[in-house]
Amino acid sequence: MAAARAEAPVAAWSGATPLRSRALALVLAMAFSVLTHGCRHDMQNQNKVRPYRESVFFPDGSSARPLPAHTVAQGDLRADEAVYTGIRGGRPVADPPFPVTREVLRRGRERFDIFCSPCHGRVGDGRGMIVTRGYKQPTSFHDDRLRQAQVGWFFSVMTQGFGVMPSYAAQVSVADRWAIASYIRALQLSQGGATLGELPEAARQAIAGDLSEISAPPVSSNPQATPATPAAPPAPKPAPAPPHPRRIP
Ligand code: HEC
Repeated sequence: MAAARAEAPVAAWSGATPLRSRALALVLAMAFSVLTHGCRHDMQNQNKVRPYRESVFFPDGSSARPLPAHTVAQGDLRADEAVYTGIRGGRPVADPPFPVTREVLRRGRERFDIFCSPCHGRVGDGRGMIVTRGYKQPTSFHDDRLRQAQVGWFFSVMTQGFGVMPSYAAQVSVADRWAIASYIRALQLSQGGATLGELPEAARQAIAGDLSEISAPPVSSNPQATPATPAAPPAPKPAPAPPHPRRIP
């Protein structure tokens, strides 16, 4: 009897414990999951404004706030619309924002050959390799409309894209886009757009000098056209090479 009585509390104690601790564990787990869920939820869906989203907080209804007075730009200010778009007041600008030097044209030619010639061709006739493989053929840069287009138009097309042509703003820097636009103008002039007579005197003389280096000047009765130093007599023609011994007749 004593043994039975002694056993009862033990049995009662050992029977109650797993139940109570299981309940406690469950409550704790639920509390933990509710609390941590709450945290995650808050972090994911916190109050914030997305770009251009309307706001009920600010009186003007716009979530984008104006810059405080006297803010100093760090990096590109982009204050001059024409430099970054090629357009001013809705019209393409006539000149690049910097003087077009030989160096600028060299850079423009290099960038044009890399980024544009695959479609527009090296001379800008619109017959690049990609076009010969089936891509839409662009208008030739020697088309009258594009000959008359302002330099800013070429900059704008590179910046915005045009029809099926994508924008090249991400690959080609602003300065390089202006260099390319300047080079396109030079390309247009090179393909029959300018005559020697239209060039400034200094440029005409430089070209005449270049040409006389390439070929002997033609004999002329005009004394001013003959060079000061007489042309060297033509070198004797070398004897024709004997036929290659292994050539099949
Ligand atoms: C992947 C081929 C491709 C490349 C590369 C490309 N273009 Fe084009 N471009 C086109 C096509 C195609 C058109 C005509 C688009 C249309 O009519 O839908 C075009 C049109 C143009 C026009 C004519 C806009 C007009 O008024 O008709 C200009 C200017 C131009 N591109 C300049 C450039 C310059 C500068 C580059 C180099 C930075 C370049 N493109 C690179 C395919 C290309």
